Amino acid sequence: MKNENTFENWNPDGFARDAQYQRTIRAFSADLICGDVLDVGCGSRIYYNLKNANSWTGVDISQRMLDGIDFRLSGEIDERRIMQGDVLDLPFETESHDTVVACFLLHHLAKDNKRLSAERVQLAFDEFFRVLRPGGRLVVAENCRGPLEIPYHLFFSPIYYLALKLRNTEMPYFWKPKHYVSFSRTAGFQDKPLYVHIPIVEGMYQPVTRIVTPPILNSELIQKMTLFEFVKPE
Ligand SMILES: C[S@@+](CC[C@H](N)C(=O)[O-])C[C@H]1O[C@@H](n2cnc3c(N)ncnc32)[C@H](O)[C@@H]1O
Repeated sequence: MKNENTFENWNPDGFARDAQYQRTIRAFSADLICGDVLDVGCGSRIYYNLKNANSWTGVDISQRMLDGIDFRLSGEIDERRIMQGDVLDLPFETESHDTVVACFLLHHLAKDNKRLSAERVQLAFDEFFRVLRPGGRLVVAENCRGPLEIPYHLFFSPIYYLALKLRNTEMPYFWKPKHYVSFSRTAGFQDKPLYVHIPIVEGMYQPVTRIVTPPILNSELIQKMTLFEFVKPE
């Protein structure tokens, strides 16, 4: 299991309530997110459109995030469950959901080095695939890595080690869209997933450093906000 402190110390109010990327995901999501929905790493703000959902289950490793959960942007849903749990060991039956949502979760599965981090992301994709019904959809939103992040990823192991030692926090590892496509294929998802890039136009809250980076620093050379749709074959 991940070091829970990393997420227990987060401030759920730090995220902007109506940032451009949340509005964009909400605008696209009504047709993507339907039936029995499982949100893994749901955090505390549900901002996608739930109008076509029958039921909603949210899982997060952090009880603090779950305690602050807020459906103001998604619309309320009557049938809903919330539980603390780990994406790597989802307590759900095989083929039990129509949609799995994982927004800004996967880069937080990092551990020690690139190889171990990749293994954990692959395990998460395998779990998503398992709990989806045939024809079901996995909707992933991620910060994907831009070229200016090369030095961070080159020195990821020592940075990760120091952050854990000095701040008791686990640093994220960012992947490129092609990596997510490859994880999804290995898990069994359809060959050609859809994905779109969402421009980042507002200040971004960095939960680990608790700094809001000013919009002038937003650049696709650093990060690309990306929304993916992966489909489990019928
Ligand atoms: C950046 S936040 C995103 C929250 C929410 N999905 C959103 O878009 O606002 C990442 C979330 O993943 C959760 N998380 C991290 N590792 C997890 C794990 N192994 N299993 C389940 N949730 C996890 C964290 O507690 C946190 O709430």
